[in-house]
Amino acid sequence: MSGIVFLGTRDLEAVRRFYVEEVGCTIWLEQADCIVLKHGNMLLGFCSRDILEMGGIITFFLDCKCDVDVMYKQMGERAVTPPKENSKYGIYHFFAADPEDRPVEFQCFLHPVAPHLPGDDLLRTRRSVRKFEDRPIPEDVIVQVFELCRWAPTSMNRQPYYYMIIDDRPTMDFLASVRGSSSAPIAAGPLAIAIGSDPELSKRHIEDGDIAAYHLLLAAWVHGLGTCWIADMDRSEVKERLNIPQDHYVATVTPLGYPSTVPQPPGRKDVAEFLRFPED
Ligand SMILES: Cc1cc2nc3c(=O)[nH]c(=O)nc-3n(C[C@H](O)[C@H](O)[C@H](O)COP(=O)(O)O)c2cc1C
Repeated sequence: MSGIVFLGTRDLEAVRRFYVEEVGCTIWLEQADCIVLKHGNMLLGFCSRDILEMGGIITFFLDCKCDVDVMYKQMGERAVTPPKENSKYGIYHFFAADPEDRPVEFQCFLHPVAPHLPGDDLLRTRRSVRKFEDRPIPEDVIVQVFELCRWAPTSMNRQPYYYMIIDDRPTMDFLASVRGSSSAPIAAGPLAIAIGSDPELSKRHIEDGDIAAYHLLLAAWVHGLGTCWIADMDRSEVKERLNIPQDHYVATVTPLGYPSTVPQPPGRKDVAEFLRFPED
């Protein structure tokens, strides 16, 4: 089940302009005299009415203090307080007013929060992270990430893949060194994870291993954890160091941790450039 909160507005156009152009919402649905706006996991509806409904506080949460600061600048005169930390709620935030004077709050949490990413944002916002905060990943978060990894698809559901958790610094440093600057990110986080697969369990163990690795990349991002696929880890010295049998496949070894920087998305082809048809 999902939900929408609807508020009455006397000026649907001004509200649309503000939430779409200034806040960055998208229009999720238009119906008769109502619009439903989407921002991350929030669905917020406005309907033209004679009465003005103010609701409580419309709170948008962003990923980091830097994003809150950017939004503060963007709000200009609509901002009613400067950004500051609030230790009671563990947030960094400021208040603004929408065109009908509804209180709008922009904040980031100063602590990890439970998963909230909708599927489209998950797929769009995952990045290859190469710089991490120097803080451990709580045990329960690791458990939840691997709980999601149970749901990777595999050929004939054989599930030949496995994840090896590496927290030993000398081993991480060794793995980080095998391909120079390309493999350096392996040692940048608090953990590294090798994704392997066993040929005795499936003749499609290579595909299954690759999919399981990408599944981990997505499952980690659900929990706000960064990863980076490092190429060419199916190497004898990597397997030897990790006590992985030489006939197993190692899809990749990725760092795992809370990003200190999430890179800007590198450019992508337009859809028309990668769609092909048999007659092409
Ligand atoms: C098969 C594969 C191999 C990659 N190898 C490396 C690597 O060795 N080192 C690295 O830093 N990034 C590596 N990457 C990450 C890519 O550079 C990255 O996915 C790409 O630039 C797009 O950026 P994004 O993942 O942030 O969207 C690899 C990605 C894939 C899928």
